[in-house]
Amino acid sequence: MKILFVCLGNICRSPLAEGIAREYIKNKNLNIEVDSCGTSGWHIDEPPDRRSIDIAKKYGIDISKLKGRQISVYSDANWDYYIVMDESNKRDLINMGFQKEKIKKLGEFGANNADVPDPYNYKDMQGFENVFNMINSCINNMFDSKTKII
Ligand code: 4NP
Repeated sequence: MKILFVCLGNICRSPLAEGIAREYIKNKNLNIEVDSCGTSGWHIDEPPDRRSIDIAKKYGIDISKLKGRQISVYSDANWDYYIVMDESNKRDLINMGFQKEKIKKLGEFGANNADVPDPYNYKDMQGFENVFNMINSCINNMFDSKTKII
């Protein structure tokens, strides 16, 4: 199983999703490959946003070594699922030609299908705390055998 997490910049939300999923997979010894990327090329090769690094660290997860990258229909066509953070990510992937059936929004997994809000312009850490908690609970639901949809 191969799962790609997708947001706009690949520096705030999807690196958190990747880090949380990696931790879950490691702890449960699962055979699942994960990665993350952005629909934009604005932060290619940059580390995650300092605030995402800090909130992940607070919960024992190190995402500081991740590097931003942009999704490509050429090299990213063979993932089983594309887990996007919001409706605009989903629209962008469909417009790029990715298969609609493989695209799921993270909020489908226990957040009433809500978008994970873009925290980039937040002025304080509370927004990042909320985003971390939302991503964390949805990823746990996504992998949990009782509620799993994947
Ligand atoms: P992300 O957040 O999509 O969660 O990584 C953003 C990061 C940067 C920008 C927008 C959203 N930006 O406009 O540069």
